[in-house]
Amino acid sequence: MRRGILILAALAVLAMPAAVLAAGPHDNDCTDCHSLHDTKADPAFGVVPNSSEKYRGSGQTVSGTDALCLGCHNEAEGIMPILLAKSHPLGVRPRKAFVPQEVLGRNGELTCGSCHDPHPSNPNYKYLRIDTGGGRNMGAFCAYCHEAMVDKNEL
Ligand code: HEC
Ligand code: HEC
Ligand code: HEC
Ligand code: HEC
Repeated sequence: MRRGILILAALAVLAMPAAVLAAGPHDNDCTDCHSLHDTKADPAFGVVPNSSEKYRGSGQTVSGTDALCLGCHNEAEGIMPILLAKSHPLGVRPRKAFVPQEVLGRNGELTCGSCHDPHPSNPNYKYLRIDTGGGRNMGAFCAYCHEAMVDKNEL
């Protein structure tokens, strides 16, 4: 199933015109992440949640969207592994950063989904929630939550 994502992505590369490729490697096989009748977590997640990664700071085991993403993006699966110990804070409630409420997790915490919308429909670089022009204007992305740090003339 997880390998399926890669194979389908490879086939899609051969079959589709360049403009469609912008959508990235999470292809239209929605059931790579969601399951309709064998859910492992809400909302209808079909991937076994990662239960070994811990939040830096609280030391609690990852949950929710983070556990889904890290169910594939870990060293054992070898799919672009993400290590929380070496990452931007996660699982924390914003204190100084301004984060739009609708992208926070259920307990008001920062999740992978605060920065990424992983859906195949998202054409942005690295599935970021903000268009960075293919990664050339990362300031536009950071400005989403850290507006005070950014040179507005360059956005
Ligand atoms: C890479 C993993 C991934 C893939 C692939 C994926 N989803 Fe999702 N989906 C998520 C996550 C994570 C959430 C939770 C987002 C949130 O709560 O903000 C979600 C939430 C949803 C929701 C609820 C959204 C809402 O606004 O309430 C729907 C509906 C949905 N997905 C449908 C789909 C469909 C249809 C596809 C295939 C085209 C798909 N998903 C593919 C990860 C994925
Ligand atoms: C079912 C497995 C699976 C899950 C769950 C999953 N991904 Fe992925 N993701 C992949 C694969 C496969 C790739 C492509 C890896 C490669 O090209 O080497 C990928 C690539 C990515 C990329 C890089 C995109 C690019 O254009 O280079 C990002 C960013 C990403 N995933 C974020 C997420 C986030 C955030 C979540 C959780 C909301 C998530 N993924 C959940 C399988 C998954
Ligand atoms: C979706 C919102 C969001 C985005 C986008 C975002 N951040 Fe953050 N950032 C936060 C939150 C929340 C914190 C936790 C501290 C706080 O609330 O002020 C934080 C903390 C930080 C910290 C302090 C780290 C630490 O260990 O104390 C740095 C540095 C930082 N962010 C840099 C960036 C940069 C650079 C970008 C763009 C590439 C970025 N952030 C994008 C929400 C975000
Ligand atoms: C504060 C914002 C932020 C959060 C939170 C965040 N990411 Fe990212 N992520 C980014 C940015 C920005 C990039 C692109 C970095 C670049 O290209 O320089 C990225 C890149 C990635 C990539 C591609 C790595 C590669 O080698 O190209 C993956 C996979 C990914 N993120 C997964 C995740 C997962 C899983 C989580 C949650 C555990 C997460 N991200 C949380 C901002 C974030």
